[in-house]
Amino acid sequence: TIFPAIMCGGSGTRLWPLSRALFPKQFLPLVNDTSMLQDTLLRLPNHCSDPVFICNEEHRFLVAEQVRQLSVSQGTILLEPEGRNTAPAIALAALNALKQDKEAMLLVLAADHVIKDTETFHQVVAQASIAAEQGKLVTFGIVPTHAETGYGYIKKGEQQKDNTFKVAQFVEKPNEETAIGYLASGDFLWNSGMFLFKASRYLEELAKYRGDILAQCQAAMTDVEHDLDFLRPNKTDFLACASESIDYAVMEKTDDAVVIPLDAGWSDVGSYSALWEVCQQNEDKNVVKGDVIAQQTTNSYIHSQNKLIATVGVDNLVIIDTPDAVLVANKDKVQDVKNIVEQLKKSQ
Ligand code: GDD
Ligand code: MG
Repeated sequence: TIFPAIMCGGSGTRLWPLSRALFPKQFLPLVNDTSMLQDTLLRLPNHCSDPVFICNEEHRFLVAEQVRQLSVSQGTILLEPEGRNTAPAIALAALNALKQDKEAMLLVLAADHVIKDTETFHQVVAQASIAAEQGKLVTFGIVPTHAETGYGYIKKGEQQKDNTFKVAQFVEKPNEETAIGYLASGDFLWNSGMFLFKASRYLEELAKYRGDILAQCQAAMTDVEHDLDFLRPNKTDFLACASESIDYAVMEKTDDAVVIPLDAGWSDVGSYSALWEVCQQNEDKNVVKGDVIAQQTTNSYIHSQNKLIATVGVDNLVIIDTPDAVLVANKDKVQDVKNIVEQLKKSQ
């Protein structure tokens, strides 16, 4: 059986001020009326087991409430006292799944992705499960459109069968020069950040490359506190775990990864420009939400939660109005919004 493991511990700082520490982007209805976490649940393939959510202690009631609203199975909510990035989060989910099923297959999903074509996504997951059964660590590759430095890059190797390729090389977040070269070569796909593998295979690879992370997670999971649908791994053991992403800890190193191209309108909505791209644009190529009057305004993302926003004669802007903060940014600079959050943290 496939065990969906939904990672929802990120902080979404590049979408400040819509996304806040206590209410990060995965819990917001940014693209439609449901939150991104809810969309992730609604898009799960049929015949999966109940999902497990891995999130921060602080967000437990947000997750529980948003799942309850959909009246789907509540699943299990694994709580981290503090994030240690995705390698440990996935290890917790894998250890938990193995308690129920020695053959458990983990479908690792981020709670903050957009996938427009659910049917294609399901087909590709079904295809991936064949390789995962054989012990492969399956990644889903996106055809790159620009030299993005915030993603992992996967070099396609030998074709296995159908549309499955060996991973010749996995490079997490290359610098810009390298990314430009990868894009030009045509041999690379972006790592979508979703994975399918046997829980046991992930743990074997983690043991090989980051035994320290596995040891801390195992210790944390042998002493779990049950509280309603919440599971709390031992705090001291988990806090002593190193912080690392699955991409650096395992995917860059393993020899056993394969990649399946995914063409299903995927976006990780990492920034306001990505959000602008996936939302419905009007004839002036603006995305407007809330109380907005936009004259002679083009290519902009304008979102009011509070006041009327009026614009005249501007292009390529992001304007966000919330009750306690306003953001005005050049749409080409929105990656740097995270620096504002950094500065705010320092001044607190
Ligand atoms: N539970 C938990 N704990 N979840 C976490 C933690 C944590 O400590 N840190 C991050 N997450 C969740 C985020 O909420 C998100 O859903 C997912 O894990 C991925 O984390 P990001 O922080 O968003 O990773 P990234 O965007 O920098 O990079 C990853 O995704 C890219 C595609 O969007 C990598 O896998 C890249 O290779 C990939 O290209
Ligand atoms: Mg991300």
